[in-house]
Amino acid sequence: LRPVGIIGTGKYVPEKILTNSDLEKIVETSDEWIVSRTGIRERHIAAPEQATSDLAYEAAQNALKSAGMTADQLDLIIVATITPDTSFPSTACILQDKLGAKRAAAFDLSAACSGFVYGLATASNFIKTGMYNNALVIGADCLSRITDYTDRNTCVLFGDGAGAVILGEVPEGRGFQSFDLGAEGAGGSLLTLEAGGSRQPSSHETVENKKHYIYMNGREVFKFAVRVMGTATDEVLKKADLTKEEIDIFVPHQANIRIIQSAMQRLDLPPEKVVINVDKYANTSAASIPLALVEAAEDGRIKEGDRVLMVGFGGGLTWGASVLVW
Ligand code: ACO
Repeated sequence: LRPVGIIGTGKYVPEKILTNSDLEKIVETSDEWIVSRTGIRERHIAAPEQATSDLAYEAAQNALKSAGMTADQLDLIIVATITPDTSFPSTACILQDKLGAKRAAAFDLSAACSGFVYGLATASNFIKTGMYNNALVIGADCLSRITDYTDRNTCVLFGDGAGAVILGEVPEGRGFQSFDLGAEGAGGSLLTLEAGGSRQPSSHETVENKKHYIYMNGREVFKFAVRVMGTATDEVLKKADLTKEEIDIFVPHQANIRIIQSAMQRLDLPPEKVVINVDKYANTSAASIPLALVEAAEDGRIKEGDRVLMVGFGGGLTWGASVLVW
């Protein structure tokens, strides 16, 4: 089995910024409440003409450039998203066409905020076993399209963006060392978008009852998040045969600063080892981990040979963690 790692990175966020003070004008909230409860200061919001595949396209072009590759060399495209352009065709197929990645197989992956790590695990196995030589894995979401901007419980939390990586063979000793993926379907109703599928097809009633927006039980998701950030981290370190002290950079899902801080305390991690950008982007679901990872790599915070631990949680409920040598 060949070692597989990240050979190219790219990201994209839409231009428009929605600040906490903008939100103060829309719902009854305050910058102080949002910052103290979540750590979020602003988020980027897609333009009306932009859909998830457009954000993914920009991130993908940047990743191809960084890998020194052209789209027609791609073997596989996986887009992790809960806000696809359409139910079908998949966003990955729309992107495959936009990029001109004619040889690539393409599919979407639905694991909410854990989707990017699920995508890395899936794509890396295709390459490890020799079925493909490379893959483009993207986490992209336009959560603003499924956010109710009259609900202060959720509208302050979410933003739009895309992060992309290209996977390929890397030298021995580098690349992915372990994965830990998991699901707790019993908690599915804690974080859900109820209508528009085969259970509750779209109707006037589903629109009137706001069933096309994210529903979240914030407190219960918070408890789940703190728990699995801990257990998934322990598990993925054990599988990689590493201790927490041997991790150089920790890249957590950017949902809430307090969830990140509880993981930092538990792992006894100093701030310089933790990537935090939730203040700028808010929770971008599948794009959250790749936006943090790519930003840290581009800023030179992640260096060759660093041991990187990514961990995320989200709707499903799901979680995903990975250790990688950069
Ligand atoms: N501004 C002002 N007040 C608010 C706001 C707001 N934006 N939102 C809620 N409040 C109020 C509530 O109504 C509540 O008032 P009440 O006590 O009178 O009912 C009060 O603030 C406190 O609410 P809590 O639920 O106790 O606040 P908490 O400290 O739990 O923070 C939060 C809420 C930020 C949502 C937190 O629970 C959280 O981060 N949960 C996890 C969210 C998460 O990680 N989601 C992942 C989504 S991933 C995906 O797949 C999309």
